[in-house]
Amino acid sequence: MTRTLAPGDAGIAEAARLLSGGELVAFPTETVYGLGGDARSDRAVARIYEAKGRPSFNPLIVHLPDLVAVEKIARVGPKARMLAQAFWPGPLTLVLPVRERAGLSPLVTAGLPTVAVRIPAHPLAQRLLRAFGGPLAAPSANPSGRVSPTEAAHVLEGLTGRIAAVLDGGPCVVGLESTIVLADPQPVLLRPGGVPVEALEAALGEPLATGGDAGKPTSPGQLASHYAPDAALRLDATEARPGEVLVGFGPVTGALSLSETGDLVEAAARLFQLLREADRLAGPGGRIAFAPVPETGLGRAINDRLRRAAAPRGVQPATSASHPRGPVGETAKFPR
Ligand code: TXA
Ligand code: MG
Repeated sequence: MTRTLAPGDAGIAEAARLLSGGELVAFPTETVYGLGGDARSDRAVARIYEAKGRPSFNPLIVHLPDLVAVEKIARVGPKARMLAQAFWPGPLTLVLPVRERAGLSPLVTAGLPTVAVRIPAHPLAQRLLRAFGGPLAAPSANPSGRVSPTEAAHVLEGLTGRIAAVLDGGPCVVGLESTIVLADPQPVLLRPGGVPVEALEAALGEPLATGGDAGKPTSPGQLASHYAPDAALRLDATEARPGEVLVGFGPVTGALSLSETGDLVEAAARLFQLLREADRLAGPGGRIAFAPVPETGLGRAINDRLRRAAAPRGVQPATSASHPRGPVGETAKFPR
C-alpha cells in the first residue's frame, strides 16, 4: 500500500531511504506533484513508466537541487545559463546536452543525447533532493492520459498501490507543469508552462521559436528511427536466422535476453542497453532479431520503441500513434 509521509525531517528521511532502495516516491514541487525515482537506476525508471502506464518511453525530467549538480550531468550553454540564473530554482526545464559520464539510466533520456533538467523551488522538493543526494527522475505523478496532480490526495487517487509513498506538502502553488526550453544555440519553446514566454524572452533579449526550427527535430518522438541501432532489426522472432543476433524474452532464448523470466519491468530496464549490446555483437552490416513482447503494460512501450528502431530510417511507423508526425528524411543514429 502507498504510504503518506508527513513533511517533516522524519518523512523526508524515509522518502530518501525508499528512493535509495529503488522505490518510487511522489513529492510536491511548485508546479505539480512529481513521481520520483532514482534517475541512475534502470529499474527505478522502468517502474516509473510502469506505474504511470505510459504507452511509450517519453524522456523524463531530471530534478536536481542546484546548478553545481546540474553541471555534473549536463553542459550548460550561454543562453541556458542566462535562463538558469533568471528562473532557477523555479518552474523552468532546460533541455541540455548530457555529459558522457553523467551516470543516468538511458531510460531517462530515452536514449537521446540531451537531458531535460529542472531545479524545483518547492522547499520540500529541495530538502528531499539534498537528503537523497542524487538526480531524481520525475514525471507528473498521474496515470498516463490523466490530469496532473496538485495535491497528495490526487496522487493517491491515481497511483495508490503502485508507488511506495507520497510526501504530502499540501497544494502546489503553480499548478501547471514547467515551461520546457531548448536554449542553445537558438532558443526554442518545447512546452509552455509555469514561466511565461514573455518573461523568458525578456531575460534572453530575443524571441523564442516554437516547436522546432526547419528540419531539426527538437521533440524526441519526431524521429521514428531515432532509437535505431546500426544493424537491421526484425521483430516477433522466435528463433535466430543465420547471422542474426537474437534478443530473447521469456521462453524465447537468444544470445541475449530482455528478461529470462518474462518480467516486463526488467525488460524495459534493459531495453536500451541491450539494443547497444546487440548492435555491437551484430557488427557492421549485421542483423538483430527480437523475440515477441506482450502488448500489455510496459510491453506496449517496449514494442513502441522496438517498432521505431525497426522502422526504415526517417520514416514514422504506421503502427504508432503516440507521437506527432515529424520531419522525415533525417537519419539519426542510436546515440552511443
Ligand atoms: O513541472 C514539471 O515539469 C513536472 C514536475 C514534476 O517537475 N514534470 C513533468 O514531467 O511535467 P513530464 O515527464 O510529465 O514531462 C516531461 C516532458 C515530456 O513532454 C518530454 O517529452 C520532455 O519533457 N522532455 C524530456 N526530455 C527531453 C529531451 N531530452 N528533449 C526534449 N524534450 C524532453
Ligand atoms: Mg505529465
